[in-house]
Amino acid sequence: MKLAIFGGKQVRSTMLTYGRQCIDDEDINRVIEVLKGDYLTTGPYVKEFEDKVAKYVGAKYAVAVCNGTAALHMACFAAGIGKGDEVIVAPITFAASANCVLYCGGTPVFSDIDPKTYNLDPDQIEKHITDKTKAIIPVDFTGQSVDIDAIRKIADKHGLLIIEDGAHSLGSEYKGNKVGTVADMTEFSFHPVKPITTGEGGMVVTDNKELYNKMMLFRTHGITRDESMMEKNDGPWYYEQIDLGYNYRITDMQCALGTSQMDKIDKFLARRREIASMYNDEFKSIEQVVTPYEAEFSNSGHHIYVVRLELDKLTCTRKEIFEALKAENIGVNVHYYPVYLFPYYKRLGYKIGTCPEAEELYNRIITLPLHLGMNDSDINDVIKAVKKVISFYSK
Ligand SMILES: Cc1ncc(COP(=O)(O)O)c(C=O)c1O
Repeated sequence: MKLAIFGGKQVRSTMLTYGRQCIDDEDINRVIEVLKGDYLTTGPYVKEFEDKVAKYVGAKYAVAVCNGTAALHMACFAAGIGKGDEVIVAPITFAASANCVLYCGGTPVFSDIDPKTYNLDPDQIEKHITDKTKAIIPVDFTGQSVDIDAIRKIADKHGLLIIEDGAHSLGSEYKGNKVGTVADMTEFSFHPVKPITTGEGGMVVTDNKELYNKMMLFRTHGITRDESMMEKNDGPWYYEQIDLGYNYRITDMQCALGTSQMDKIDKFLARRREIASMYNDEFKSIEQVVTPYEAEFSNSGHHIYVVRLELDKLTCTRKEIFEALKAENIGVNVHYYPVYLFPYYKRLGYKIGTCPEAEELYNRIITLPLHLGMNDSDINDVIKAVKKVISFYSK
């Protein structure tokens, strides 16, 4: 048993999870109100939630759907990605950021990360651009915005669309503005560990009316009641399917929760930043632990807190540190395995060595708990456990 190695008592007696939703009575009452009302699925809260998020980030339009993956699929559809198209994607991310390209018949092309921010390195992107490239999907990993102006410049030069995967970055800032207006479309996720939650949920924001219209169609089977888009009008009951879409609708219950969560987002982000800064202060003097680097253009919302281990200064592997922290009841995690190394992607022909920086990073990272359910004592437990484990394994 690992615990024996460290002797004495565990830092904690109960497991602290790495991420968790934060739901209060206001949230619960807002959902109950919908349950007692007329609309369970599409109802007034859907538009209210969309408007609230769009206004918050400074975008003109928003389309809410049933999850962030559906939102990415919808954005790829609106971008017109299809068979034969290539899309440049990030390797250190959740699989959905690349799967969405495959859903549309396109080919994800993985470009390496900046070893400091762990986001797509703008300097690596251009060498992957061919006459088949249609779009770039950068990810704001951990909540830190990618250098979106640099990516915008490349996209404009080559006539590409940008679909920003902001699943981690609702409320995060780039050069003082909220993430969500520089890319052609920006996707957010409302999964429970994300900056705000609707249980499951996702959204795409855009300033482009044409893209917005395409997404609205895609969300609901490709069906419209807008006469200006229809071939004919057979009567007041009549609608037309003018494209192939899905049922990616989000419910009014989820959007009611989303509107209530949006009322608290600034408070949520302030606390997340506070926890990250407490960790940074404590870990900056430990040479075996590299705290998250934040670029000068970024004000991250710290969706997750990822440290990089200096393994050459430790007597053990990342796995041993991971297991030792788990034994202390610290619910660590690892984000992420480079997507193209998964068996499915390997079967499609993707190879080890495609993104050396991403592969190197993967072997060294650990995600520490950071969520709004943590009190100062929980934060101190994490700090204490990290110090204990690292000092045990220090060279
Ligand atoms: C970077 C990233 N993109 C996309 C998604 C997909 O979001 P969802 O889980 O809402 O489908 C996630 C979710 O974990 C994510 O982390």
